[in-house]
Amino acid sequence: MEPYRIKVVEPIPFTTRPERENALKRVAYNPFDLRADEVTIDLLSDSGTGAISAEQLAAGMNGDESYAGSRSFYRWREVVSELTGYPHILPTHQGRAAERILFSSLLKPGTSVLSNTHFDTTRANVELAGCQAHDLPCAEAKDLDSDYPFKGNIDLAALEYALENAHRSPVAAVLMTITNNGGGGQPVSMENLHQTAALCRRYDVPMILDAARFAENAWLVTRREPGYQDRTPRQVAEEAFRLTDGCIMSAKKDGIVHIGGFIGLKNPELAERCQGLLIATEGFTTYGGLAGRDLDMMARGLLEVTEPAYLAERADIAGYLAARIRDAGVDVVEPAGLHALYVNAGRLLPHIPPHQYPGTALVCELYLRGGIRSAELGSLYLGEEDEQGNPIKTAPYELVRLALPRRVYTRSHYDHVADTLAGIAKDPKSVHGYRIVGQSPILRHFSIKLEPV
Ligand code: F0G
Repeated sequence: MEPYRIKVVEPIPFTTRPERENALKRVAYNPFDLRADEVTIDLLSDSGTGAISAEQLAAGMNGDESYAGSRSFYRWREVVSELTGYPHILPTHQGRAAERILFSSLLKPGTSVLSNTHFDTTRANVELAGCQAHDLPCAEAKDLDSDYPFKGNIDLAALEYALENAHRSPVAAVLMTITNNGGGGQPVSMENLHQTAALCRRYDVPMILDAARFAENAWLVTRREPGYQDRTPRQVAEEAFRLTDGCIMSAKKDGIVHIGGFIGLKNPELAERCQGLLIATEGFTTYGGLAGRDLDMMARGLLEVTEPAYLAERADIAGYLAARIRDAGVDVVEPAGLHALYVNAGRLLPHIPPHQYPGTALVCELYLRGGIRSAELGSLYLGEEDEQGNPIKTAPYELVRLALPRRVYTRSHYDHVADTLAGIAKDPKSVHGYRIVGQSPILRHFSIKLEPV
């Protein structure tokens, strides 16, 4: 059961089918443009959408809003230092600010970054620094249905090959995303992290952790990895941070706060370069774009997030929803992780070709039938078309992400999601595809305009 009870509540909006039809038409079938009060169950993101605890709220009330050297900063820094072990810690307003500052300070144009999988803003920030972002997911990640426990791993042989041949294409950093959000929310094993660290040491390349979901990764390690069963998630997380040269963190996920992030580093010269950019673009080094109360709430969230009872329930509710979806005959990427379930829309809607976006079709149908907002991860997100709209590139899979906000929805909310999906699965042929009528050149999925085919 949930290891908490509810003290403060917020009403959720209920809408009629005609209202949802009008809303979806108004936003040209792009759910990012819906107003939140048109959405009943919002599974668009697990980022900044969690419920804070009474202790976090109390810590926030105690925030010190001094411009420099606030008590909040020192309290926060102690918590982050103990968790991560890095001597240099810089606050940022969210994960992508940490990415931009670190990459602008660390990467030389023309070099590349290797990763198990870059998240989309992470890739964009590597590219904005004039570098290439290469994903090297392990081979097991290709089979969406297998029970392989660590599909978030990097392909060690491919990594070694790239590092060995770095004289042809210099490698500026190796970035490990835990858990692997772009790769189905799958965890990375400690063995894979240790071996990656050994390769990085051998070839003298910095290893950086994208730690947005470090606690969820640690939980899955304690459940799935031999030798780690008797360790606490906190101990696993501490070990993971200490293997690396630094981290970028979006605390909007496993900091359980609405805003916040940080950079952690071992190298003092690199930290000094980042600090200059931080002051120029985010804020002074003791607040980095955050209020004192935000730092105090993050410090408390970073402690709560590794509590075994919290993580056990989070895994349990994700497993419950996954089981209900499977029972309805709909496939999710296996094994189910914690922060999101990835529904195999391509398999559910085989009559819709990739360039009519089966993932988007499912996203729209979930909204029309159940007021549920979700995100496409398929050919709309990853594909490309020529000027006439003919496909040049399609995604390997057509998925829909149901992200699970932390401590927000109850089992009956998730029953509604499962019932809505079950209804669609009974009558998949009634769902139709979409065509693009307007888009922007970068991160197009945020601003796309569509119409039904
Ligand atoms: N890294 C990962 C793995 C992420 O999932 C995200 C954000 C970021 C970095 C960027 O952090 O949003 O604080 O700037 N992911 C959100 C999501 C947006 O919905 O998955 P941010």
